[in-house]
Amino acid sequence: MASITIRNLDSEVKDLLRQLAAENGCSMEEQARAMIRAAVEGRAGQAGRIDQIEEKLRALTGSKEQATPVVAASGKPVPRGSLSGKRILLIIGGGIAAYKALDLIRRLRERGASVRVVMTSAAQEFVTTLSVGALSADHVFTELFDREDEHDVGHIRLSREADLLVVAPATADLMAKLANGHANDLASTVLLATDKKVLMAPAMNPKMWAHPATRRNRASLQKDGIAFVGPGKGEMAESNEAGEGRMAEPLEIVAAIEAMLDEKPKPLAGRRFIVTSGPTHEPIDPVRYIANRSSGKQGHAIAAALAKLGADVRLVSGPVNIPDPAGVATTHVETAAQMKEAVESLLPADVAIFVAAVADWRTTNAAGEKIKKVAGEGPPSLQMVENPDILAGIGHHAQRPGLVVGFAAETQDLIRNAEAKLKKKGADFIVANDVSHESGIGPSGVMGGDRNKVRIVSRSGVEEWPEMGKDEVAARLAALIAERLQTIVV
Ligand code: CTP
Repeated sequence: MASITIRNLDSEVKDLLRQLAAENGCSMEEQARAMIRAAVEGRAGQAGRIDQIEEKLRALTGSKEQATPVVAASGKPVPRGSLSGKRILLIIGGGIAAYKALDLIRRLRERGASVRVVMTSAAQEFVTTLSVGALSADHVFTELFDREDEHDVGHIRLSREADLLVVAPATADLMAKLANGHANDLASTVLLATDKKVLMAPAMNPKMWAHPATRRNRASLQKDGIAFVGPGKGEMAESNEAGEGRMAEPLEIVAAIEAMLDEKPKPLAGRRFIVTSGPTHEPIDPVRYIANRSSGKQGHAIAAALAKLGADVRLVSGPVNIPDPAGVATTHVETAAQMKEAVESLLPADVAIFVAAVADWRTTNAAGEKIKKVAGEGPPSLQMVENPDILAGIGHHAQRPGLVVGFAAETQDLIRNAEAKLKKKGADFIVANDVSHESGIGPSGVMGGDRNKVRIVSRSGVEEWPEMGKDEVAARLAALIAERLQTIVV
């Protein structure tokens, strides 16, 4: 690449580069190279990166004009208006994830929300009030007492003029402050003084997230009614750090906000659900396991659909590659034994839905060390033992939920097999998946795919549903359960 002579650039462009380089912790030349590279890639179809650069340019040139991208980076149209007229007060805490708050503001405004921002002093070390103000098209609030500032509206008014408070990133410090009722800066004072709903998107080092103090604070905040989204697992910004503590992605936060501000009737409010989803992994040795093709898409979609109807959903998920559904408390497990233990610990519940494709067998002799090939010895022999049937255990449990729903993937004798499972497992419904090739979807289409064709088998008969998307199956099942609960005294 030819060299870039920064001093030959216009002073406006130089200022822009200086700002961006400072935000990104790199040299001005590196910043310029990154922008050129992103622009070239953007022409090849990565519209999202171009948008980000445009936003930054707009932010730094002080333009208050809102971005109007027609399509997202994925090529899908951006859903507009889902937050039309909603007022979000976003509190940005001081962490590396603060840069994601810029994208969050953009996503919220795309959907019609107005976004007012409070930044802690630590947050201003990571992103500038200038960038945030340009993206939110509003003054950025930073000081508790600032009578000099014509924009000083006071902490009570900030809260009063919002429909929802969102803390992203929610640092360990901000969580600790609110859990203990501290109010020594604008962010903590607004949080303590509000009577509006609050959503926190924590982001911190995995060790800080796992610390008993943070766990205690999270538990007391949840008890106080604070909602959480994330954190997720993955690589952290600090090198060589990985684990749970990554802030949820902006679109996950948006989904959680949409769910919290959804004013549609909530027929499942106050009802507690347990849902299992995904496969289980049964270890053979530390690197090998027995698994199946379940993606968790159907179980996760059901958990999300129930949460949308106001249910308190506890999801127990086997290993999957999809995010936790918004607004759903998710426990992650690996094996059938762990899934059983997690489900039992969540009792009592009003309803339990068993969507997981639990491995039928596990090895009795999982090796502690990786099994090596030894010349002349042939393959190892695995001794297998049957796993506990989690659904049957709950179907006959002393604390049996009022409604128990199972799934059955069948390739033949669909109804007869489903009716047998209904009886044997003590379920009220069996959602029978037709995974035969004749169904048109086939076993590999249902397991891992986005479509499903089901029949609802209960003691009162069989209801056949047409083939549809898994989200639609989930929404219809949630509605059916809501209707059924109205007639059952749980
Ligand atoms: N299930 C469970 N625990 C198990 C096995 C199955 O909770 N150990 C649940 C599944 O989540 C599903 C239902 O039981 O809701 C039926 O699962 P399925 O695998 O179809 O039934 P099996 O009892 O394993 O029968 P088969 O594999 O012989 O059809």
